[in-house]
Amino acid sequence: METNPPKRRDNKKSLRVKVISLGNAEVGKSCIIKRYCEKRFVPKYLATIGIDYGVTKVQVRDREIKVNIFDMAGHPFFYEVRNEFYKDSQGVLLVYDVGLRESFDALDSWLGEMKQEMGSQANMDSIVFIVCANKVDLTKRRVVDEGEGRLWAESRGFHYFETSAQSGEGINEMFQAFFSSITDMCENGGKRPVAEVSMAFTKEQADTIRRIRNSKDSWDMLGVKPGATREEVNKAYRKLAVLLHPDKCVAPGSEDAFKAVVNARTSLLKNIK
Ligand code: GTP
Ligand code: MG
Repeated sequence: METNPPKRRDNKKSLRVKVISLGNAEVGKSCIIKRYCEKRFVPKYLATIGIDYGVTKVQVRDREIKVNIFDMAGHPFFYEVRNEFYKDSQGVLLVYDVGLRESFDALDSWLGEMKQEMGSQANMDSIVFIVCANKVDLTKRRVVDEGEGRLWAESRGFHYFETSAQSGEGINEMFQAFFSSITDMCENGGKRPVAEVSMAFTKEQADTIRRIRNSKDSWDMLGVKPGATREEVNKAYRKLAVLLHPDKCVAPGSEDAFKAVVNARTSLLKNIK
C-alpha cells in the first residue's frame, strides 16, 4: 500500500534578516519604523534609549521574510550600547532630517562608526543601504534638497527615498524597495546585485559636486589657496571643467556645479593681475 510522504514545512522560501536604523537623534528613525509597522505617527519626541527591537514579517515574491529590526538611538551618549549591534546586518536605514543640514553631513560619520565597529568583518558590499530624506512634509524649513541627497546616496550605490513619517509619504515604497533588495542580495549569494551599484557617474564627480556646493568662496570652490596665481587658478579650473563638463558628467547637479566653477574662475581672474 502506498502512503503519501509526511508533509514538511518548506523552509527554503523563508528568510530571516537583520536590519538597523542609523542617523542623528531626532531625525525620525523610530517614527519611520512605527509608521510602517503600526501605521501611526506620534508627534511627541520619545528618544530611543540605547536600542529598540522589533520583528515583522513581510512577503517578497514567493518568500516570507522575517525581519529583525534594531532601531538605534542617535544620541552620542548611547554609543556603548549601539556598537554591539552593527554586526551581521543585511540592511541599513540611514536617516536624516531635510531641515537639519548637520544631520545630513553626519551620514558619513555614521558609516564610519559602523565600519569601525564591524572591524575586519566590514564588507559594505554585502549590505543594502537605504537613505531616507525624512520630514519632507515640513517644506518651509527644508535646507537639503533632493538633488544633494540623491547624489550622496546614489554615488555610493545606496537607494534614496524622500519620506515623511508624519504623512506616510514614501514609507511603504521605501520599505518595499528595501526588503526586495535585501532578498535579491540573499538570492545573489550575499552580494549586492551589480546592477544596483553600477553608476552612470563616478564617486569623484559626486564628491566634487558636493564640495563645490559647500564651498565658502571662489578660492575654496576651485580648491586653490587665497592669493593663488592666474596659472594656478586656470590649472584648477581646467581639471574641474574636464571632470564636470555637462557633455561628460551626468551626475545630478553637475550643470550647476560646472556653471559655478566657470563663474568662480571669471571672478578670481578679474582681480588677479
Ligand atoms: P532618537 O531615538 O533619539 O535617535 O531619535 P529618532 O531618530 O528615533 O527620532 P523620532 O522618530 O523619535 O522622532 C523625533 C521627532 O521628530 C518626534 O517629535 C517626531 O514626532 C518627529 N518626526 C519624526 N518624523 C517626522 C516627519 O516625517 N515629519 C515631522 N513633521 N516630524 C517628524
Ligand atoms: Mg528613536
